Amino acid sequence: MTDISAKTRVEWLRREIGIHDHAYYELDAPTIPDSDYDALFRELRELEATHPELATPDSPTERVGGRPLAQFAQVTHAVPMLSIQTETDTNAYGAEHFDTRLRRELDMTDAAEVEYVAELKFDGLAVSLRYVNGVLTQGATRGDGVTGEDVTQNLKTIRDIPLRLAENAPPLLEARGEVYMRRDDLLRYNEQAEAKGEKLLVNPRNGAAGSIRQLDPNIAAKRPLRFFAYGIGATEGWSLPDTQKELLDALAIFGLPVCPHHVVARGWRELADFHKRMGEERSRIPFDIDGVVYKVNSIALQNRLGFRSREPRWAVAHKYPAEEARTTVLAIDVQVGRTGALTPVAKLQPVFVGGVTVSNATLHNEEEARRKDVRVGDTVIVRRAGDVIPEVVAVVLDARPVQAATDDLFAEAPVHPPFELPDTCPQCGSHVEREEDGAIARCSGGLICPAQARGALLHFAGRRAMDIEGIGDKIVDQLIKGGHVKTPADLYTLTAPALASLDRMGEKSAEKLIGAIEKSRHTTLARFIFALGIRNVGESTARSLAYRFKSIAALQEADAAALEKIDDIGPIVAESIVGFFAEEHNREEIARLIGAGVHWEEQKESETSATGTLAGMTFVLTGTLPNLKREEAKELIEAAGGKASGSVSAKTSYVVVGEEAGSKLDRARELGITILDEAGLLQLLRGESS
Ligand code: IVH
Repeated sequence: MTDISAKTRVEWLRREIGIHDHAYYELDAPTIPDSDYDALFRELRELEATHPELATPDSPTERVGGRPLAQFAQVTHAVPMLSIQTETDTNAYGAEHFDTRLRRELDMTDAAEVEYVAELKFDGLAVSLRYVNGVLTQGATRGDGVTGEDVTQNLKTIRDIPLRLAENAPPLLEARGEVYMRRDDLLRYNEQAEAKGEKLLVNPRNGAAGSIRQLDPNIAAKRPLRFFAYGIGATEGWSLPDTQKELLDALAIFGLPVCPHHVVARGWRELADFHKRMGEERSRIPFDIDGVVYKVNSIALQNRLGFRSREPRWAVAHKYPAEEARTTVLAIDVQVGRTGALTPVAKLQPVFVGGVTVSNATLHNEEEARRKDVRVGDTVIVRRAGDVIPEVVAVVLDARPVQAATDDLFAEAPVHPPFELPDTCPQCGSHVEREEDGAIARCSGGLICPAQARGALLHFAGRRAMDIEGIGDKIVDQLIKGGHVKTPADLYTLTAPALASLDRMGEKSAEKLIGAIEKSRHTTLARFIFALGIRNVGESTARSLAYRFKSIAALQEADAAALEKIDDIGPIVAESIVGFFAEEHNREEIARLIGAGVHWEEQKESETSATGTLAGMTFVLTGTLPNLKREEAKELIEAAGGKASGSVSAKTSYVVVGEEAGSKLDRARELGITILDEAGLLQLLRGESS
C-alpha cells in the first residue's frame, strides 16, 4: 500500500516542477537555481521508483527519455496533416495574389475585405500531439501527411510541450505545430558539444528535425528543442471556435505554447504589412523563420474553400528571399579545434548576407569540401540561414577561373586544383590522422599542438595520469594565456614566484602546487604512457604497453607488428602508437620530460593483472552511446579491470553498440559476439549479469 505522505509528496513535487518548467521555458525567467531544480527532480524520480504505483504518463520524469527504440511505429493521422502552398513572389505582390485568388474562388470580388490571420512560418519539423482526457498520449511526425512516425518518447522530452493540458481542454484534442530550436540555444549547445568533442548541429532546422528522428530519446532530451502550436487535427467533445484567431487563443488557454507574433489582418495590404514588418524583425526574433503564413480567419470560409490535393486553398506561405549571396573564395584555411579536429574554412570576399557581413564560411570537413568541390578563386553562393556559421551552398562552376586554352585539343583547365586537407597540422606540423569513418581528420600532435594545449595539459596532469594535484582548467588557462606553459614539459620549469603571480593564487598555494609537480616526477611507466595522450591509448592499453616493453625507448622503436602481438591492440591502435612516436616533436617532448627528471620504476606484474568485475573481459565500443562519451565508457571498463579494444576479434567478449554503429557491429554479428547497449554495459559494471 502506498503511504499517503509519498503520494502527497509526489503530487507536490510534480506541481512544483511544473511551475518551474513554466517559469524557465515559457517565461524565460527561472525562479530557482538549476541545482535546486535537479534536486526536486531527483527526489521525484526516486519516489516513483520506490512507489511504481504512483507513476503517471504526465509526470515530468517522463521527459528524461527511456530506452532506444528499434524502429518507429507508424501512425495514421485521423485528420491528414496538410502541406501548404507557397507564393512564388517574395514581395508584396505575393499577398495581393493570394487575396485575389481567394476572392475569386469565394465569388467575393466586390464584397468587403477578407479577414485573415497572419502567422510566422517556423522553420522546424511539423508534428501532431494527441491529448486524450488532457494527457499527452501520442506524438507523431507529419510523414507523407497521411501516415507519420510515432515519436512520442522524443516529443515528451521537450519541456514546453505540456504532458497534461489545462482542466478545460476537450476530451480529445490533436494539436499541430512545429518543433524548432532557438538560435541562442543552438549556439550554447554547440559550444558545449565542441568542448566535449561531440558532433555539432549544422543549423536549427536540422537540429530540430534530426533530434526528433532519432530512435534514442536520450538524444532529443539533450537538445534544446521547443514547440509552437498553430492548428488542430482530430477533436472530440469540443465545439470548434469560429475563427483561426480564436483557435490559437484556445490552444494557448489549454496550456500549449502559441507564438505571440500573429495578427488578424484585413485585405492584402495588411498581410503585406505583416510580411514586411516581420521581415525587418527577423534577425531579432530568436528562432529562424523562412516566411509568414496567411490563413483565412473564418473557419466556415475555410471549409467552403476546402483543399486541392494535399494543400488547403485557404492558406498560403509567403516566403522571404533566401539569405544567400554570391562572392568569391580568397583562400581556404584550415582551423584546428580544441580536440584537434581539422575544419576547412573558406575565406571570402566580404559580402552582406541576411543582415551581416560574412567573410568566412565553414566547409564542415574534407568530405564536404570535396563533394562541393570548392576551390580558391571560385565564385560561390553563401547562405546564412540564421546559421551561427555561414556555409557555402554551392560553387558557380561557370564562373570558375580557367587557364587560357592552349593550342592542343584539351579543354581549358581550372587554375586551382581541388582542395585537399594538408597532411600536417597547420598549428604544430604534426601529421594528420583520418578517423575510421573518414569524416574527421585530426592533428596527431595532441601533446604539443597549441590548439590542443589545454586538453593535453589537463589530461597529462589528470589523476590517472601524472596526478598533479591542484591543476585544473582555471590554472591551465592562465598558464597558457600568460605564456608560462605550452607543453607538459614546461610544467616542470615553473617556479613558485611565477605561479604566485596568477589570479587567486597566493604564495602558499603556489608552493603547494610546486610540491605537487615535484612529486609527480616520480611515477610509473604505465601512467607516463597514458599521460602522453596518444590517441586510442587508454589506461589499460598503457598498462599493457608498459608491461610488454618495459621502457619508453623500447616502445618508441616498436613497429605495428610488435604492437599487435599485445592482446587488446589491433591495427588502429597500433597505427596511433607508431604514428605518435614517428613524430619528431613527440620524441623531443618525451626527452624534455625525462630531462626534467620524470622517472619511474620497472613495471610490476601485479599492476597489469587487473581485478574487478570486468577482469579478463575485452570490450569494443562502437557508435554514439546515449549518455556516456566513448572515453568515459572506456574509463569505466578499465577501472573495473576490463579492456577496451579498438577492433572486434574472436578475443572480444562484448561489443557495446550506440547510435550509428558501423562495421564493428556487423563484424560482431558475424563472429556471434554478445552485443550490449549502454544500459547493458552499466548493468555488467554494477556486477549484474545480463
Ligand atoms: S499551417 C494549413 N502554420 O509549413 C496547412 N504551417 O505546411 C497546415 N509551418 O511543414 C500548416 N509554420 O510545419 C502552418 N504557422 C504555421 C506554420 C506552418 C510553419 C510549416 C508546417 C509544414 C509546412 C507546410
